[in-house]
Amino acid sequence: MKYTVKNTALSALTGNVIVAVFEEGKLSPSAQALDQVTNGALGQLIASGDIKGKQGEVVTLRNINEHLTRVFVVGCGKQGELSVRQYKQLIKNTIQAVKATNATQVHNFLTEVQISERDLYWNVRFAVESIEESLYQFDQFKSKKSDQHSALQEIVFVVEPAQQAEKAVQQGQAVALGVRLAKDVANCPPNVCNPAYLAEQAKKLAEKSPHFKVSVLGEKEMTELGMNAYLAVSQGSQNEAQLSIIEYRNHPNPQAKPIVLVGKGLTFDAGGISLKPADSMDEMKYDMGGAASVYGVMNALAELQLPLNVIGVLAGCENLPDGNAYRPGDILTTMSGLTVEVLNTDAEGRLVLCDTLTYVERFEPELVIDVATLTGACVVALGQHNSGLMSPNDRLAEQLLNAAQQSADKAWRLPLSEEYQEQLKSPFADLANIGGRWGGAITAGEFLSNFTKNYTWAHLDIAGTAWLQGANKGATGRPVNLLTQFLIERVG
Ligand code: BES
Ligand code: MN
Ligand code: ZN
Repeated sequence: MKYTVKNTALSALTGNVIVAVFEEGKLSPSAQALDQVTNGALGQLIASGDIKGKQGEVVTLRNINEHLTRVFVVGCGKQGELSVRQYKQLIKNTIQAVKATNATQVHNFLTEVQISERDLYWNVRFAVESIEESLYQFDQFKSKKSDQHSALQEIVFVVEPAQQAEKAVQQGQAVALGVRLAKDVANCPPNVCNPAYLAEQAKKLAEKSPHFKVSVLGEKEMTELGMNAYLAVSQGSQNEAQLSIIEYRNHPNPQAKPIVLVGKGLTFDAGGISLKPADSMDEMKYDMGGAASVYGVMNALAELQLPLNVIGVLAGCENLPDGNAYRPGDILTTMSGLTVEVLNTDAEGRLVLCDTLTYVERFEPELVIDVATLTGACVVALGQHNSGLMSPNDRLAEQLLNAAQQSADKAWRLPLSEEYQEQLKSPFADLANIGGRWGGAITAGEFLSNFTKNYTWAHLDIAGTAWLQGANKGATGRPVNLLTQFLIERVG
């Protein structure tokens, strides 16, 4: 979709326009202008009750005068009471209605709509993101592609101060593309998207920008590094584990310490010998959602050319039961030297991550954020709308929560504290890989914290937010938006 920003009066326009009306017959400024150039036609439609202004209502008027081909009148509910979520839904409904016509271009006056506590920048940015989201389809594996073809090519945001809106379009598009790429890899089936496939995607990024340098470690390199916890998870799979390192260096000071993003990349998690139940096991193809989102963020960085040093790490691996698989009872010596007793092979994410988190010490990071579909317990605690955030560092936690709030990619902080470490005690090793029944999201975070003592660190558990179940089953691309926003704010 092409997005442009223009400042034109409605009375000077021809073609297609989108205007807002509110309940109780209240008109937006553009609706008032429209009423004037149509000799009160809009007012009459409201007076007759044909247009009610209810949220989600979209009425399409044709040939209302000689200049305007179509007018899409969008009900925005009570004036001044629109939440971000409602606004996004309303944009999607509107685009649906526009796409159902032959309109190739449309002038959007919903820029006049006030979203609660948001300025014009967010009005435009959320519109771009929502439109791109509603256009997303994953039909790579369908022999008949869904016929979603529509004539619509261009959306014009009609605004006065253009600069803010231009920036919103640019940043909205970069985020939306990152989200789309993350969804594409995450939705990809596990017989195609294996650790090697993830690494291929990472390598392809290098072609995109001269600021990228991509390298991939295989099992041989991991063995040399002593990444035995990571390797133990992989040993039941025929597909070799691959750790992709995507370096993006574009800070004005090349020596600036990098921000490191680590993504859990279990391209399939059957649970291993502690096998998962069959029901919904297919969804464990999404266990690489963390890696997918890091990949999407790296792409957004390049699109925006942010002046930062950022390293994205995709920890690709597969967890399967097999004659050669690791077992409950195994004791693993991690790259850090700490030993771990495996009590459940399905708590594999933390094993892959602990070695990766030790590995990234070599980058002398300013901070490290790991993103992982780590625990079902996090979904029990927070449901499917908030990612779980854990960090011993209040400042970093605040910055991430702020980015989550700004981008409407929600996160909620869970506590970390030493009491929980008690649950990870093992009679035979330094740590057990599970912490019992209670506080499972937190004990997983606590497990990781043993490997992140040498830098500032935060952990995002996206088990509930990385994909949707049911009728709208599919990857969400979260938390690309949150993390990209965090990086945008770092530039200031
Ligand atoms: N990938 C899963 C976590 C998960 C489960 C994400 C369900 C989304 C939905 C992870 O590897 C896992 O299996 N965790 C176990 C840990 C347990 C054995 C301590 C879990 O949550 O059940
Ligand atoms: Mn698991
Ligand atoms: Zn897993």
